[in-house]
Amino acid sequence: MRIREINLASFGPVIRGKIPLKDVNVFFGPNNSGKSMTARLVYGVSSPESRYPEYARRYRQMRLRYLEGYRGPALRKPDERVAWNVMRAVNDEVEQIVTRGSKICTSIVETDLGRLRMTLKKERVSELPGRKYSLSYSMPKRFVKWYLKGHERPGRAAIYIPAARTGTIQFFSTILYMRNELLRDIIRSFGGSLAQEVSPAELRRFLLSLGRFPLYLEDFYDLLLRFLATGPVSPLETEARILHYGKFRLERTRELPSLAYVDSSGFQTEIEKAGSGVVASFPILLGMTTVGPGGVLIVEEPEVHLEPFRQMVLLKLLCEEAIRRKVMLVLTTHSDFVVKKMLGLVTNGTMKNSQVSLHYFEREPRRFTRVRSLPISRTGEAEQPLFDEAVDALTHDYSGMVSGR
Ligand SMILES: Nc1ncnc2c1ncn2[C@@H]1O[C@H](COP(=O)(O)OP(=O)(O)OP(=O)(O)O)[C@@H](O)[C@H]1O
Ligand SMILES: [Mg+2]
Repeated sequence: MRIREINLASFGPVIRGKIPLKDVNVFFGPNNSGKSMTARLVYGVSSPESRYPEYARRYRQMRLRYLEGYRGPALRKPDERVAWNVMRAVNDEVEQIVTRGSKICTSIVETDLGRLRMTLKKERVSELPGRKYSLSYSMPKRFVKWYLKGHERPGRAAIYIPAARTGTIQFFSTILYMRNELLRDIIRSFGGSLAQEVSPAELRRFLLSLGRFPLYLEDFYDLLLRFLATGPVSPLETEARILHYGKFRLERTRELPSLAYVDSSGFQTEIEKAGSGVVASFPILLGMTTVGPGGVLIVEEPEVHLEPFRQMVLLKLLCEEAIRRKVMLVLTTHSDFVVKKMLGLVTNGTMKNSQVSLHYFEREPRRFTRVRSLPISRTGEAEQPLFDEAVDALTHDYSGMVSGR
């Protein structure tokens, strides 16, 4: 399944946006302009639900919460399930998807399997919290079938790498450690010993029992768990060497598998204790090598924790791999450096201008966002004067929250 274009109206902070997607897509603009929400819409649509059977169960609970009292048609239809899953990928609090002050939010996603139209509508005020919003939708049967049978495909259709990945990985490894220590204490108190390896499903259950995570974080943990459980580490070797001159080593000598990073001098450390640049780029490389051909890789703020030179190397790696493996790449950023380097990849012939799309999330002062697509020339120049204005906007504060002195 391939997304061709997204049309948004009153979608979170985005008041209006027409976003044609190509092989490599960059969403850039200031904080709070709706880049991540839009990226998660791409993720929701391209990430088949039935990979995880427990989602279906949790979804039913969510649906009851939101739709209690809802009298619309076809509550049990599969396409309704798909629409709610997509909305939940965008934001667990579905009501927050509708722009503040608006009554209706529409997202239209054009795919090669047809057009999906999802409309969230604020209903008349009611006593019941679950009656405040309703979702109407239309989508082709071919798409619904693809979405609900996604787990039968080899590889993964979509991977989302969140911006806060460094802290997330540290949290994740602490949780795994805690779980093992707890279990060891309990088993010891009965006179036993913990020799058995832990299954990823078991770890996943433990993680989810601790609290509620947004769907994209659950998926992110899942990506890490699967990797720890099964590897293989070899597809990451070339990338790790190019980016960090080091290598990753997966160790399964203890009850819990652990991932180590070995730098160019041979120094070895657990991944969560390696430098932030290694921690932040590891899941990106993992995502790139795990996503199936024809799938979607979404990387939030790829520049995070990397020195400028490595940012360039990573961008080149990602773009080359995306085009070679026919993976759709979506990057979000507020870095003018990243945007300029992406254009540079067109200039130096790594990609053609027809393979890249650049979308500026223009947040007007004290107002909402308009998404504007910037045409790119064959030699890699983005349309002027809009491009310079966009770059200027990233370095100015127009919010009025910080007054100039
Ligand atoms: N329903 C809504 N109406 C208006 N604004 C909203 C709504 N929902 C979210 N927002 C705003 O949008 C922000 C979230 O947007 P998003 O996370 O997509 O921004 P972003 O462009 O990715 O920002 P950053 O660069 O900081 O990551 C929220 O913090 C909030 O300010
Ligand atoms: Mg964001």
